[in-house]
Amino acid sequence: MHDFYLICPIGTEDTLIKELKIKDLNKSILKLNKEKGGLLITCELNFGLSLNKVLKTCTRILLRLKEQKCRDFPKLYKIISKFDFKPYIVQEEVEFIIHTHKSRIINTKKALETCQDAFEKYINAHKLKDSILGKYQNVEKQKFYIRIENDNLTLSIDCSGNSPYKRSEHKIKGHASMRETYASLLITETLALNYDFKTIVDPMCGSGTILKEFRDYYHPNNRNYIYERWPLARDKEEIPLVKGPDFKLIGHDRDQSVLKNTKDIVFENEDLFEGGYKDLEKVIVISNPPYGKRVKISEDRVNFYNKMVHRIKEKFKPRVIGFVAPSEVPLTFNKILSFNNNGIKVNFYLIF
Ligand SMILES: C[S@@+](CC[C@H](N)C(=O)[O-])C[C@H]1O[C@@H](n2cnc3c(N)ncnc32)[C@H](O)[C@@H]1O
Repeated sequence: MHDFYLICPIGTEDTLIKELKIKDLNKSILKLNKEKGGLLITCELNFGLSLNKVLKTCTRILLRLKEQKCRDFPKLYKIISKFDFKPYIVQEEVEFIIHTHKSRIINTKKALETCQDAFEKYINAHKLKDSILGKYQNVEKQKFYIRIENDNLTLSIDCSGNSPYKRSEHKIKGHASMRETYASLLITETLALNYDFKTIVDPMCGSGTILKEFRDYYHPNNRNYIYERWPLARDKEEIPLVKGPDFKLIGHDRDQSVLKNTKDIVFENEDLFEGGYKDLEKVIVISNPPYGKRVKISEDRVNFYNKMVHRIKEKFKPRVIGFVAPSEVPLTFNKILSFNNNGIKVNFYLIF
């Protein structure tokens, strides 16, 4: 069994737990501790690594490699120079990220130098094969996290690598688009209501991040993660995912959208405040409308969001409406989550 730390935006830890349940993944987790900004879980190695591919609300995954008392620099040097790095590395340079708290070691700069020196000693005694060095010459460096708290050291390795919120290697972005992880937070909270639904509509869909995340929610991400190159993890099997419900995805926007030719999503160029009632089956409306900042709103924002909700009810007769608005706008709807979207504090509201 291994310990993994699943990092998520602060305040969204419960949403990550809901995603584990929705996808039936909680059954393979032996122990789960909720902390601020993440979950510490105990599970099989392969399962924990594969969570990178299947979780959508988690922003990074770390694997705990070692825990030990450490009160001074010679001890730190000894721990690092004696650790067996080979199962995890394909380069002779790595990066250390150091945090210390309430410990005798407080000088993080000196701690970093100590770790670098200790790693150099290790690698000089355990040179990698030229064929491996050649193959991985220009890829991102492996990161190791060292946390010293109350003189207790934990050494963890990053399993995710660069920009884990990205779902595939190539991506087209639209105007004021939302980060995928956040879109999936909204989706998870909506699915956790356990309503029967057949149609998802985003009436102000922009580049369609929410709809694309909905489409891919039950599918593994089509990209590589850094753990896949570890000698230890090569050729490991991926964990199977539960099959999600079948649903139809519809995006509207008053502007043209990059969504136009997107697989499995119907795009219509329509203003929310125009057009008549849409007779659709078992609808959930979920949207990230303008905030009145980057995308302008020409009237009082409380009025705008109230009018928007009224109009959504009239136009789609949905079972659930979920939408995001800046926290500073005093709305009286049922607030589910608060998070920071590209520097703007926002709330997610659910009306059902
Ligand atoms: C914040 S952006 C949406 C971003 C989207 N969630 C994404 O990730 O790409 C808001 C979108 O609402 C659209 N919009 C604003 N007012 C609208 C209206 N009355 N009817 C339809 N779309 C509207 C804008 O064109 C813009 O694309």
